[in-house]
Amino acid sequence: MATMENVIVLVNRIQRACTVLGDHGGGDGAASLPTLWEALPSVAVVGGQSSGKSSVLESIVGRDFLPRGSGIVTRRPLVLQLHKTQDGAQEYAEFLHLPKRRFTDFSLVRKEIEDETDRLTGKTKQISPVPIHLSIYSPHVVNLTLIDLPGLTKVAIEGQPESIVQDIENMVRSYVDKPNCIILAISPANQDIATSDAIKLARDVDPTGERTFGVLTKLDLMDKGTNALDVLEGRAYRLQHPWVGIVNRSQADINRNVDMIIARRKEQEFFASSPDYSHLASRMGSEYLAKLLSQQLEAVIRARIPSITSLINKTIDELESEMDHLGRPIASDAGAQLYLILELCRAFDKIFKEHLDGGRPGGDR
Ligand code: GDP
Ligand code: NA
Ligand code: MG
Repeated sequence: MATMENVIVLVNRIQRACTVLGDHGGGDGAASLPTLWEALPSVAVVGGQSSGKSSVLESIVGRDFLPRGSGIVTRRPLVLQLHKTQDGAQEYAEFLHLPKRRFTDFSLVRKEIEDETDRLTGKTKQISPVPIHLSIYSPHVVNLTLIDLPGLTKVAIEGQPESIVQDIENMVRSYVDKPNCIILAISPANQDIATSDAIKLARDVDPTGERTFGVLTKLDLMDKGTNALDVLEGRAYRLQHPWVGIVNRSQADINRNVDMIIARRKEQEFFASSPDYSHLASRMGSEYLAKLLSQQLEAVIRARIPSITSLINKTIDELESEMDHLGRPIASDAGAQLYLILELCRAFDKIFKEHLDGGRPGGDR
């Protein structure tokens, strides 16, 4: 049975196949591939340094694998594709730059992200816009593409060029400018929301707020006697989607290796037992945020099916003629990859026509 989930899986696989070609498929092959990649939805985190971006992504995945901490830790974009696998299947991770190696130990995934970051930037505080691509295969995830990004800053620190403030902002913008990018705007609850870098940038690229999700972290770190109800109930800064409050693991929890499952349970208890937040408890926390995002992703894909379909048809045409011209020698990997994309696009087209288009013969092809 073809379902929306099948469509999301296919979209995910097309996206992955395009990234394998490098430069989002822009090199060899079909001219519409980069446009196709951009048409497919993803979720990017935006916020100031140490606002909790990497921690939020980890909670969504339910796994402990990202470098986190104070200061500038995330120094290259990380494009993280989650692939839902069958119940009982072993969880593993795979990097695009290490295609033959399956990681089942997630602490080694963190080590590899750190090493691969240093390979381009050196052990410095410099950044690089070249993304690291990581896929996680697990029965416990929803099919999502998540992008972890360096934090926005206001000043360059020792060892960083003066241009870094603008460089980071440009890098972040290059991801969240895309109309199909869902923005997770992360602000810490222990800072004034009026000064939030995340909200400032999100408002700029998505003025109507239709693709922005406001996430308030560090609720456990607020001064005694204060609460964040003004923000969480939408009075301080109104967004189209309701705000989600989060309690991630503290640095002390991380140092003590507190398990993610236990951390999620503690987070739920925090909301349920809080006199301030208990009335909101069912709409707070990382598990709820993950569900909200996959619903939103589904809605985006559903709304964009006509345009994705026509792009996919265009890509099929281009790839078919590319295949016809393959008399010239091309790198066999790239050739195989183009062929895979072609097959995936055809599968998408078939599912769409048979099941989602109400069985109507598909338009102009
Ligand atoms: P990023 O720089 O935005 O990616 O932030 P990180 O996820 O690396 O987190 C920065 C620091 O803040 C880490 O030491 C986290 O443990 C801590 N942190 C993040 N979120 C929370 C939270 O909700 N509560 C507490 N107590 N600490 C948090
Ligand atoms: Na940080
Ligand atoms: Mg980070």
